[in-house]
Order: sequence, then structure tokens, then C-alpha cells
Amino acid sequence: MPPETAQLPRHVAIIMDGNGRWAARHGWPRLRGHEEGAESVIAVLRACRERGIRYLTLYAFSAENWRRPRLEIAGLMDLLRRFLRDREAELHEKRIRLRVIGRLQYLPRDVQRELRRVMDETKSYREYHLILALSYGGRAEITDAARTLAQEAREGRLDPARITERTFARALYAPDVPDPDLLIRTSGEIRLSNFLLWQLSYAELYFTPTLWPDFREAEFQRALEEYAHRHRRYGALS
Ligand code: FPP
Repeated sequence: MPPETAQLPRHVAIIMDGNGRWAARHGWPRLRGHEEGAESVIAVLRACRERGIRYLTLYAFSAENWRRPRLEIAGLMDLLRRFLRDREAELHEKRIRLRVIGRLQYLPRDVQRELRRVMDETKSYREYHLILALSYGGRAEITDAARTLAQEAREGRLDPARITERTFARALYAPDVPDPDLLIRTSGEIRLSNFLLWQLSYAELYFTPTLWPDFREAEFQRALEEYAHRHRRYGALS
């Protein structure tokens, strides 16, 4: 079977790492690395859409990223504004639903407003989902879910004895999204860094030394081929 038609993940999650190092290697400011990283976002989003991969979750801004210099945070927020402005038409054209997971309320007001608007205007698209993790932390997500359930229990709407993994998962940020099949992390770091801690339990993990701004369609294809290979092998054993 050609790679494109081999076993495809339904949901790919990516820790986009290495923008700063990419910029440093070229002798450029860090923000230039993030800008090139945004180009990789577009390339991978298109590659998913072309291959029929329905869910793409990107770790675009972690809860820990708030500790970065003010100017870098402002630059990242600006990139997000630009992405929404420049890519909105493409989301509609390709019928991709934009979603956000994370503590959206901490983002600048105008970014929240734009995100909510685009999410609202794309919410009828059911097949393809671009999920941006923004101000996101895996432990925070689990904590938020625990708080929601505790509140329901206090109000008498939920019996604590009946909480199962399924009930718990329903309180997470995007409960209808299937767990990722494949997690990719670029830049050679071999860590989860507080990303989708609940959802990644059974994901195949793929780490590459390639820095995110260099991670384009060919690199993505390589990750998919590795996934198909692993998947087929494990399938044969089970
Ligand atoms: C990690 O690289 C990357 C980030 C903290 C931000 C990711 C943002 C983008 C790819 C661009 C904007 C995204 C969208 C959706 C428009 P790093 O800065 O930690 O790199 P380093 O470890 O080499 O310093």
C-alpha cells in the first residue's frame, strides 16, 4: 500500500518545539523563528486536510509560556492574530472547524474575541478540526475537570460513587474529540511538557530532532509512515 493510503492516524497532536533554536542558528531574533513556525503550522494543517486526517491539535502556547519575556509573548499573540486574520478564509474554504483548549480567559481580550468569533463561525464544520492549545496545561485541564465534577456533586447532580473514566473525560476541554493516535514532538526534546496528559495515554510517540520551522510536509509524511509501520506491526501481534 502506498504510504498515503496506509493506516492513517485520525488525530495527530504536535508539540511544536525549536523555534528559538532555529532562529539562533540563523542569527535571527527568536520571533523570526516563531514566524517560520507559523508557516509550518499552515503546511501541516494542509497536509492533514489533504490526507483526510480529521483532528490536528497544536501546542501553540503553554501555561508555562506566560513566564517568557513580555515582548516574546506579545509577538506570539500577534502571530496568532495574524494567523486568524490571514487563514480564516482557508478554514472556511476547506471546512475546518477551529477549536481552542486551555484557559482562554487569560489571553488578551481582542485575541479571545477573534478566537471566539472564528470558532463560532466554523462550528458547523464537522469533519476537520484544528485544535489550538492556548494557555494550556495538562494538569490544569485535569484540575478544571475535577472542579467541574466536584461542583456538580455539591449541587446534587452527580453521585461521586458513579464517576468513571468516561464521566471524567466528559469534563475535559474538548470531550467529543477522540484521543490522539500520534504525538509528534520536534527539536529533539523527549518530554510531554504537560501536554494532553489524560488524552495521550495510548498514543504512539514520535520524536524528531528537526526543529519546528523546518518541519514541513516531507517531515510530516515521514512521521506518518513511521506511525503506519508501528501500527501495522502492533496490529499483527494483537
Ligand atoms: C516552542 O519553541 C514554540 C512555542 C513556544 C510557540 C509555538 C508557536 C508557533 C509555532 C507559532 C504560532 C502558532 C500559530 C498557531 C499561529 P521554543 O520557542 O520553545 O523554541 P526553543 O526551545 O528552541 O527556544
